[in-house]
This record gives sequence, C-alpha cells and structure tokens, in this order.
Amino acid sequence: MDDFRKYIADIKDKLFKYQTEKRSKTYLALNENPYPFPEKLIEEVYKLIDPYKIPTYYDSPDEELLNLLLEYINSDKLSVKNLSIGNGADEIIYYLLLMFKEMKVTIFPPTYSCYKLFAKDIGSKVISIPLKEEKIPINEIENLLNVDSIVFIPNPNNPTGHFFEDEEIEFLLNTGALVIIDEAYYEFGKRSYIDWIDEYKNLVVIRTFSKAFSLAAQRIGYLVANEDLIDAYNRIRLPFNVDYVSQLFARVALKNLEFFRKRIEEIINEREKMKKELMSLGYKISNSQGNFVFMYLDTDSKEVLTREFEKKKIAIRKFSEGLRITIGTPKQNEMVLRIFMEVKKNENSKN
Ligand SMILES: Cc1ncc(COP(=O)(O)O)c(C=O)c1O
Repeated sequence: MDDFRKYIADIKDKLFKYQTEKRSKTYLALNENPYPFPEKLIEEVYKLIDPYKIPTYYDSPDEELLNLLLEYINSDKLSVKNLSIGNGADEIIYYLLLMFKEMKVTIFPPTYSCYKLFAKDIGSKVISIPLKEEKIPINEIENLLNVDSIVFIPNPNNPTGHFFEDEEIEFLLNTGALVIIDEAYYEFGKRSYIDWIDEYKNLVVIRTFSKAFSLAAQRIGYLVANEDLIDAYNRIRLPFNVDYVSQLFARVALKNLEFFRKRIEEIINEREKMKKELMSLGYKISNSQGNFVFMYLDTDSKEVLTREFEKKKIAIRKFSEGLRITIGTPKQNEMVLRIFMEVKKNENSKN
C-alpha cells in the first residue's frame, strides 16, 4: 500500500496542473467570446438532433462537417483528406505532442502556456527561446532546429496578439522542423498559412470554434495538414473524440457565417478602440490581432493595475512581461478603460 502511495506521489510530482483565474462576474482572462451562442441557432441544432443517433457511436468527424470545413478554409489545393477534428484545439495540440513525443519541442515565450504544460506531462523535452521585441531570434536558433524538432507558433501570438512575419515562418519551415501554426484567433486577424500546406509537408495549421464562434464549452477544433499527417493523427486520436452534438453546433455555426462575421467585426472594432485609448494613455501595447489586448509593464505598474482589477472583481491574465485583457462587451471594455484612466490620473498627480 505504501509503495502504491509513493508511486502516485512520484507521478503527481512529474505532472503539471492546468490552472486558471477564478470565475468572476467580469471574466476577461481566457479570451472567450463575450456573446452567447444565439438561441435561434441552438434551436437549429436541436432540430438537427436525430434521437436514433444518440445511442450509436457517431463518426468523428462526420462527412457533412468535413465538407463545410473544406468550404470554410477556402483552399482549392486541399481536400477533406487534409482535415480532421479534435475536442478543442487543445486536444489536437496534445495528440500532436503524443504523436511526436520523441521530438524536441521548441516554443517562443511569451506564448500559449499549454504547449509546455502538455509537452512536460507527456515527457517531451521542451526548449524555450524568448522572443526578442516580438521577433523570433533566428540567429540563436539556426543550429537548434531540425527534422527532430516540433515548433509551436500561435499566430496571432497569444498573449501579445501580434502576427509573425512570413520570413520568420519560412525560416522555421526551411529548418525541416514540424511547424504547428496555431490559428486559434484567425477570424480576428484574418491572416492564415493554410495555403502553404500544399508546399510545406512539415506544416500543420490548427484552429478552433471556441473564440470567434462562441463555442468554447462545446470543445471543437480542427487541423489542416498533408494527407499522411492527417492519416497518422486519425490513428492516434480516440475514435469518437468529438461528440455528435458538438459537431452539429460547429455545422450550424458554419452555415451562419454572416451572423458570426458581423459579431467578429464588432469585437475587432472594440479591440482597435481599446488599443487606441491605451496608447493615448501612454501604455506600450502590442498590435494585437486577436480578441484581446496586451500591454508591456514594469513590475510596479503591473502590481498596481492588478490590484485595481481585483478590487473591481475583473479577472484578467498576468504574465511576467505584462497584462493580457480579453475584449468583452462595450460596457465591460469601458469598465476596463476607466481603471486604466484612473490609475494614470493617480500616477500623474503623484509626479
Ligand atoms: C493559442 C491558443 N490555442 C489553443 C487554445 C485552446 O482552444 P480550444 O478551446 O479549442 O481548446 C487557446 C485557448 O485560449 C489558445 O489561446
């Protein structure tokens, strides 16, 4: 019995726990969409549910979803054989790491925290090369990357929201490393590398329905890559990984693109407004192309701001480099801006 307890304790020590901010009334910590999935579209999903399908094992992905996804990615060089799905983009990241667990995982912080978390849990070696002024330090990694490497690039980057340049992506691809471009926030910046998949066999693009389509709870993401990689992915993933109803949600979302596009534009407008206001207050912000803003801060200003947000019960995400705040409803964004304005006013009155 004692041996068993020690065994569990040892395993626990080696595993990382996913942690996030406590839920609060104004929750701007996880880059969620501030708007609900519309009731009218939930009714559409409900009408599609076939009760006879519930007791059966359902295809993941189903053919209809694959065809809609193919239409959505809008690439004449690719077919449904270049697509598969996951229980959220996170599951896809996890499976890719599992598939290539012998490879060195390279990340460029500040970056999405789950790459390192999952890689460590799986037991892969992780190499962290910090970005320099939001650029990949190419000189430092020239001899580091090769066919035994797997590289994760969120584009737009999370947490800063900036886009990497074509030259940086090209450099990574030409090292022979497997390059995973995570386009979780694609719809808010509209720049994609899916069109490069035909040329680069070592390129994988991941996307999600969690952000632009207000479907984080339904857990649905997809990946695009060359046919062989997708075939391998379909072998490693669990056979029915994305459930029937979640797939119906994704299908209904893709059939109502006009509705979502309008909402996305509203969020983009709010983001641009927020960036402008923060800049005019004198904050050093990133040129975010996601549904969030990021500002670089020294430790003192970061602490002052964090306390003010805590006082107002607004959850945001703290990084060693600064703060990331999700774009919320116009009312929530106003609350956020008011905090920044008050903090600046206090700072100026002290000087
Ligand atoms: C860059 C990035 N990739 C992936 C995810 C996870 O997406 P999903 O909800 O589809 O698992 C997130 C979530 O915040 C993210 O920021």
